[in-house]
Amino acid sequence: KKILFVASECVPFVKTGGLADVVGALPKSFDKKEYDVRVMLPNYRAIAPKYRENAKCIYYFQMDNRVYVGVHQLELDGITYYFIDNEQYFGGMVPYYDLYQDLERFAYFSKACLSALPLIGFRPDIIHCHDWQSALVPVYLNTVFQGDEFFRGIRTIMTIHNLRFQGTWDVGHIKWVSKLPDECFVPGRLVSPFQDTSIPQNSWNCSMMRGALTYCDYITTVSNTYAQEIQTPAFGDGLDDILAWRRERLWGIINGIDYDIWNPSKDDKLVANYNTKTLKKGRAANKKALQKELGLKEDENVFTIGLVSRLTDQKGLDLIDNIMDRLCNMNINIVVLGTGARNYEDMFRYYEGKYYNKVRAKICYSDALAHKIYAGCDALLVPSAFEPCGLTQLISLRYGTIPIVHEVGGLKDTVKPYNEFDGTGTGFSFRNYFSGELLDRINAAYNLYTNNRKEWENMQKRGMKEDWSWTNSSKIYMDLYNRM
Ligand code: ADP
Ligand code: GLC
Repeated sequence: KKILFVASECVPFVKTGGLADVVGALPKSFDKKEYDVRVMLPNYRAIAPKYRENAKCIYYFQMDNRVYVGVHQLELDGITYYFIDNEQYFGGMVPYYDLYQDLERFAYFSKACLSALPLIGFRPDIIHCHDWQSALVPVYLNTVFQGDEFFRGIRTIMTIHNLRFQGTWDVGHIKWVSKLPDECFVPGRLVSPFQDTSIPQNSWNCSMMRGALTYCDYITTVSNTYAQEIQTPAFGDGLDDILAWRRERLWGIINGIDYDIWNPSKDDKLVANYNTKTLKKGRAANKKALQKELGLKEDENVFTIGLVSRLTDQKGLDLIDNIMDRLCNMNINIVVLGTGARNYEDMFRYYEGKYYNKVRAKICYSDALAHKIYAGCDALLVPSAFEPCGLTQLISLRYGTIPIVHEVGGLKDTVKPYNEFDGTGTGFSFRNYFSGELLDRINAAYNLYTNNRKEWENMQKRGMKEDWSWTNSSKIYMDLYNRM
């Protein structure tokens, strides 16, 4: 079977969040004899020269006699990557700008991916799209490209990594940037069936993601719980109607992590490698190295909490804000690594200044530091308001860092709450989105770490022994491909 992934980010080329981890790792997990999986991405200038310069231009053309499309190809670790090249759209140093511009760039990208296929001679059986940046692929395929023999019978999957981002604007703008036919812009297609039709059509709310969910053959999302949640108004971001309506075609498949990249016994970014047997010594060395690097007092016994996250409303940072003063009364270190919304960046800078002997806020993107935080902290906070899957808690489990999470989405499906009576569980979790509940669980973790280190280590080992690689989930994707 031939499968084409279409996405806006992918490790190791460009990454802003978990989407890139998934698109980077999943294609490698399939049985190569049966599945020819290739990946299409924008040719951002931000991609490291060592990749950009080695990719060969295999074709270029004018799409719709008007706009340039170059196709660059690179083989890496047994996977074929195609980069859609257009200097005007992807010549900047970051993958995303403001939404208004991004709509045009990714409408172009989606159409260019399809237009390129016959020219480069690759006809996939299935096109597997990821998030709103590729959401117009199923729409173009089933409208504009429908009459073309080459495309007949190609099936599509839309994987939702985050429903909060949909590529939404008014009909007028999306029609202009996409040049899609009028039939797409009626209620029930790219427009909500509940649209008030008494206002002018050009001002109707229009969602590219809704289009994908309408036109694709199958929908998947990245955990079972999130698949259920998004069928309700509280989590559906205005698309719960169609998700509930198509629930037979909606699969929740939990993400894995790349076990070659995230492996404490081989990770070359750490000062000391470790496994379940050498956990204690290895982690103590990593904690001290982290403290030293950050200019904190070196002490292997101070309870150290990490946060590695995009700094956005999704991530539960308002809860942390509410309890920072109380946390900093404890014998604790807090290490934050993240970038994002200005208000949260400033919030953590403020706490770093206020509690300089306990708090460090690294407001940047650093893969190396992320690895060191996973290996050097005792616990990792993931109090997200919603979380489709979440990868940082999976990395934590693999590294023996205890996750403290809100019971939503993938966090609920992957972290088993600690039970002091029967000695089970792999982390701490709270049910209601209240800062008091988060504080209570941090206290519980702190107390266990301080008073019963043996139990703490047992919990670390239980987490490390679990399997959150792609092995299981990629089988489910293959099942789905076969069914289609
Ligand atoms: P999301 O995709 O919503 O951002 P995930 O938990 O799925 O959340 O994935 C986040 C990924 O991005 C993880 O691999 C995490 O380590 C990484 N990450 C997030 N922020 C940073 C940062 N500032 N520096 C390095 N890695 C980061
Ligand atoms: C999104 C989600 C995150 C998920 C990631 C990869 O960015 O916010 O929960 O893990 O995509 O699927």
